[in-house]
Amino acid sequence: MKYILAPSLLAADFTRLGEQIKETEEAGAEYLHIDVMDGVFVPSISFGMPLIESIRPASNQLFDVHLMIVDPERYIEEFVRCGADSITFHLEATKDPQAVIDKIHACGIRAGISIKPGTPLEEVYPYADKVEMVLLMSVEPGFGGQTFIPESYERIRQLRNYIEENGLATRIEVDGGVGKKNIREVIAAGADVFVAGSGVFRKNSITDNINKFLEAF
Ligand code: DX5
Ligand code: ZN
Repeated sequence: MKYILAPSLLAADFTRLGEQIKETEEAGAEYLHIDVMDGVFVPSISFGMPLIESIRPASNQLFDVHLMIVDPERYIEEFVRCGADSITFHLEATKDPQAVIDKIHACGIRAGISIKPGTPLEEVYPYADKVEMVLLMSVEPGFGGQTFIPESYERIRQLRNYIEENGLATRIEVDGGVGKKNIREVIAAGADVFVAGSGVFRKNSITDNINKFLEAF
């Protein structure tokens, strides 16, 4: 399986944003994970279109936009225009998940669907063959730097089984509390795209941090 690291911009130093994005790209992170929060679906507010549009020329990475906003169907075209290559929305945030998927695909980019730690896994199964990626949250969405919820391992395993049993190529992305201490267990559970905010941007240099992930792949 091909493993992909997706550094989460939320943990970057915004005074040195372009430089830090470049460093993640040169160190080998293929995706850039961009967390958009609206203060309604989650308690916090992060950043939105102007930021994505502004950093787009600074990177050739796949822009993996994670929408933590209600009624995401309102903004799909706009995020694509700003440079999203993949848009992941929350199952819990819309009345019509299939319509959101269709809208994302109609824009010619990849679609992902995400569920919070407390949402039964079975609720995402009907969409697993309709999207390119399922994002399992391993913390409550809203903030970086939280601790990985251990029950997530079993959810990753079960989703991996479902995907294999049904012969799907859908990727499993895991987001929240993933770092060099637990990356091997998250891989073993069956995920293949790994979001890391603090794990990439904090403590040591970005390059050293990324190398630790790549060694585990
Ligand atoms: C949380 C976000 C995450 C967050 C991860 O709601 O979706 O992407 O930035 O940060 P860490 O890796 O620090 O848990
Ligand atoms: Zn995220």
